[in-house]
Amino acid sequence: MHEDSEVLRRPVVLSVSGLGVKVGGKTVLENVSFNLEAKETLAIVGPNGSGKTTLFRALMGLVPHSGRVSWSTESKIGLVPQSLVATDLPITVAEFLSLKCKAGFQESMNSVGLGMEVLRQRLGSLSGGELQRVLIAWAIVDRPRVLLFDEPTSGVDIGAEEPIYQRLESLKEQLGITTLLISHNMHVVMHYSDYVLALNKRPLLFSETKNVSHTKLLEIIYGAQVTPQGTAPQEAERPSS
Ligand SMILES: Nc1ncnc2c1ncn2[C@@H]1O[C@H](COP(=O)(O)OP(=O)(O)OP(=O)(O)O)[C@@H](O)[C@H]1O
Ligand SMILES: [Mg+2]
Repeated sequence: MHEDSEVLRRPVVLSVSGLGVKVGGKTVLENVSFNLEAKETLAIVGPNGSGKTTLFRALMGLVPHSGRVSWSTESKIGLVPQSLVATDLPITVAEFLSLKCKAGFQESMNSVGLGMEVLRQRLGSLSGGELQRVLIAWAIVDRPRVLLFDEPTSGVDIGAEEPIYQRLESLKEQLGITTLLISHNMHVVMHYSDYVLALNKRPLLFSETKNVSHTKLLEIIYGAQVTPQGTAPQEAERPSS
């Protein structure tokens, strides 16, 4: 992934080489390769069904895969899943968080903009956006070294999304967290990631985010027809290898 010597300073947290996943004989992912270094944020983008969630599952060892996935030994991982059906779960937010760890509730609730009174509410009584924020709080409560976010703010109000990312950004600085983020929100991708991987079963683009424009990224993912006209961005592309 990195070709310039400057970036060899930080330890590699995750190394993926030739990753492939088949489900029921159908190829869902193939030939995915990248390295991620400490404190970097990698955004993973692609259309529905392009294999993003499957990539996370493979990285966590939850689905069989070919190729190599190698985590550095001290990588404690926090996962924010794409969805959780919590309607009937008879436990409170505090009880849910305490399944993972017994302290740090205030900091993690604050990070996602939820008041402490929410701790007493049952998971099943929360709105979709509140539940999504609780899932983020749950992922960060035990201070992981790596966060995997599968569209973590998809149910959150538009106005509430940005503050969550801002808080996560400062948490990342504080704790040195390495992040993999799946998002359909190109604004989030462009502002909060260092690298971007565009996927459609196989890698379409791997680039430093600052070297690819929003327009170009949309064009790569969805085709030229959705691209606003009249822009001629400068971008640098580097296919995953
Ligand atoms: N357990 C499974 N059984 C059958 N097909 C599966 C399974 N898991 C994934 N797939 C298929 O793999 C493909 C990729 O699914 P995946 O959930 O990874 O996509 P995605 O990029 O996360 O999509 P979205 O943006 O909608 O969340 C889809 O075609 C899906 O139907
Ligand atoms: Mg998904």
